[in-house]
Amino acid sequence: MNSYFVQTFGCQMNEYDSERIAATLEERGLFPADGYKTADIVILNTCSVRESPQNKVSSYIGMLGKLHSKSGKPSIIGVMGCVAQQVGAQLLRKYPQVDFALGTDNLPMLDYALTRALSGERTSSLDVDATSFNVAPFKRRINVSVSISIMKGCNNFCSYCIVPYTRGREISRNVGEILAEAKALVHNGAKEITLLGQNVNSYGAGSSSSVDFPALLGQVAQIEGVVRLRFVTSHPKDFSEKLVHTIAGHDNICPLVHLPLQSGSDSVLKRMNRGYTWNQYLDKVQTALEFFPKLRFASDFIVGFPSETDEDFEATLAAVEQMKYESIFAFKYSSRPGTKANELDDNVPASVKSERLARLLKLQDSIASERYSALLGVCAKVLVEGVSKQDVSTMSGRTIYGRIVNFETTRAVNVGEEVEVVLTEVKKNTLFGRLK
Ligand code: SAH
Ligand code: SF4
Ligand code: F3S
Repeated sequence: MNSYFVQTFGCQMNEYDSERIAATLEERGLFPADGYKTADIVILNTCSVRESPQNKVSSYIGMLGKLHSKSGKPSIIGVMGCVAQQVGAQLLRKYPQVDFALGTDNLPMLDYALTRALSGERTSSLDVDATSFNVAPFKRRINVSVSISIMKGCNNFCSYCIVPYTRGREISRNVGEILAEAKALVHNGAKEITLLGQNVNSYGAGSSSSVDFPALLGQVAQIEGVVRLRFVTSHPKDFSEKLVHTIAGHDNICPLVHLPLQSGSDSVLKRMNRGYTWNQYLDKVQTALEFFPKLRFASDFIVGFPSETDEDFEATLAAVEQMKYESIFAFKYSSRPGTKANELDDNVPASVKSERLARLLKLQDSIASERYSALLGVCAKVLVEGVSKQDVSTMSGRTIYGRIVNFETTRAVNVGEEVEVVLTEVKKNTLFGRLK
């Protein structure tokens, strides 16, 4: 029993947790396998934000069960993350091949669960820790760009969203712990840090600490060696002028705010329980842009929320047209068990959801093309991440707004270096250029 494989579904928080899982397994002397087929132990770190990632978990478990009956591998299967938190006990009952289920707060139980599994005992730990969020230092994978979870859970209860049920109430991590992790990461070679939370703007709320999110961001920005600092996600209702001033006040904080609008229609926003209207959102954005014109925004949208009319959807298109986002993620509404919106009739036909999604993405595509064309001839700062995947003779990196740039170079360029690149071409939403 010596190799492991972690399959991650879902958001960046799950990716962060998967790194913690890998570190725990490596501390036991296990090493990473190439894939689930050759691994002795497979851990699924799951997501239930929409029906499709949740369904993938069941089919993955089924597939692993068949593999096990044929080759005996993987010998141990563990399910963790948001699906485990919600239905871990059912998974254990339904699938004999699953050895343990651990909830989102039970990562520290992994070592124990594995020990029990090795002696043939199936366990589950699904208790939520409602009082604290501590992450003991663990062996981080060092890349140019790394993430740090600064809080867990969510108190917003948007009516469609499962996260408050799978991740529990919002609890902020202690400032000292976050700063120590950030310092260690840059000391070991990381250049770009992304601070993670479901709603980073409410960092510190409800804790005894006086450090709010802008203050934390400012402190991380001042750590020597942090070349770039990003954060996700910002809830519009808590997006403050103080935060804008902090971004503007530090050269290394990337001026891109992921500020999910979800819908441009006030009646849909109300039923989503988002806590703002389109005009309030736009006001905040405009005030921010007046103070700091370099700022750009990205967003998430849900189409086909219960009773969303054509007019509601047109309002979303109009908002996207006006905002000219850097990028958007858009999803078809998926009814989640236990949420408030699950009590509403999921009455927008699947074909209408698909059509609206396609129209929204098409609109954003044309906005992105416009934005890209305007960049030609511009000199952009690029943080080098490595050799380009498409063409090994060129290097690849990202702009401060997160856009990928592939560029030719006439001198040796190091991974992790920030260089200036003149943008000369755009193909399929990738920018090309040459070193200045
Ligand atoms: N905390 C973040 C988002 C977390 S979930 C925020 O508040 O913005 C990521 C995205 O998934 C959401 O922004 C939303 O657009 C989408 N999403 C969440 N629940 C969904 C559901 N039930 N159906 C479809 N999309 C959903
Ligand atoms: Fe879900 Fe809303 Fe919390 Fe985001 S803010 S995680 S969408 S409940
Ligand atoms: Fe999914 Fe859980 Fe993240 S539901 S989006 S993995 S918080």
